[in-house]
Amino acid sequence: MSLPDPRTLAAAGAWATPPPRRAGGSRPEPLLALLARITPLLVRGSARRPVREPAAVDRSLALRVTEVTAEAEGVVGLRLVRADGGGAFLPAWHPGAHLDLDLPSGRRRQYSLCGDPAVRGAYRVAVRLVPDGEGGSREMHALAPGAVLRTLGPRNAFPLALTGSGSLLFVAGGIGITPILPMVRAAAAAGADWRLVYAGRSRATLPFLAELAGLSAHEPWRVRVRTDEEAGGPPSAEELLADAGPGAAVYFCGPPALVPGLRSVPALHVERFSPPPITDGAAFEIQLGRDGEVLPVPADRTALSVLTAARPTTPYSCRQGFCGTCRVRVLAGGDALRHGGSATARRTDDAMLVCVSRGAPGSRLVLDVGTG
Ligand code: FES
Repeated sequence: MSLPDPRTLAAAGAWATPPPRRAGGSRPEPLLALLARITPLLVRGSARRPVREPAAVDRSLALRVTEVTAEAEGVVGLRLVRADGGGAFLPAWHPGAHLDLDLPSGRRRQYSLCGDPAVRGAYRVAVRLVPDGEGGSREMHALAPGAVLRTLGPRNAFPLALTGSGSLLFVAGGIGITPILPMVRAAAAAGADWRLVYAGRSRATLPFLAELAGLSAHEPWRVRVRTDEEAGGPPSAEELLADAGPGAAVYFCGPPALVPGLRSVPALHVERFSPPPITDGAAFEIQLGRDGEVLPVPADRTALSVLTAARPTTPYSCRQGFCGTCRVRVLAGGDALRHGGSATARRTDDAMLVCVSRGAPGSRLVLDVGTG
């Protein structure tokens, strides 16, 4: 979601990404890798061993909602199974993975998997309602059991490295707990030295508190819940990092406003809710088709935000350059193109990801978006 954004490094186009090994980790044993590919249940509880993901089994999978649960104030949890066979195995995933879900409106949105990867018959996601958002969360909250959604399957843009001996600090802000929860579960199962700081407005708004209490039942000091309500205001980065041991790897998912304060951490892994801010942008222009309208793109906006303002139906999803949904062919001006995001998502050099790619200062890019 990113310093560099791990999604652009690790996940673009990948159906499922094997977890990375920290320096010093042993190489996978071929037999173990083979067994893991056949039945990941065999290696449950062995999270410190390198395990390969099974190959993709279906690039477009229909999922049926079987349960909708209230997880906290404004947060629903959804249980999803294969629409073509309730108990059948779903593609495997590792902590940090997300689903690209196609919503009933046609929007595609990402939701982190927050269940247990060892449960192969169902996925679990949780969604906070954003009343003034662009509608994705409202659609998810409106789903009832029986609803069917398509997914591109699990992809991992925020992989957890459990091999090695260093300590781990997980920092979750509100609904940012969703990718962090499976990481905590994996770290606890692996006997890793981990801590979690879970921040939010109030306890009533924080999902999975009971589950976290269960995971840390014998060592409750491993989880620190920090609310604005109890502390009298939002946390500083220093406060969030207070539990980090020397050399700890920090995994953060939460509001982007907290990211700058965390940048001093050498081993920082970030999953973002929203696109990173544009820090060194310059103005350029986009032209909609060879004879179409010319739109200025200011230095502090993306071509995507300009396009969606002019064409509200412009497709997009991640807004971070890894999903490829916003890919557009560039008909002219390609020499001025400054590519951003993943080459896999872009696929060809004459295409751009309008959410992250820009033209050179003062240039004009002619985009293949028609004139309608
Ligand atoms: S919206 Fe995902 S790559 Fe642009």
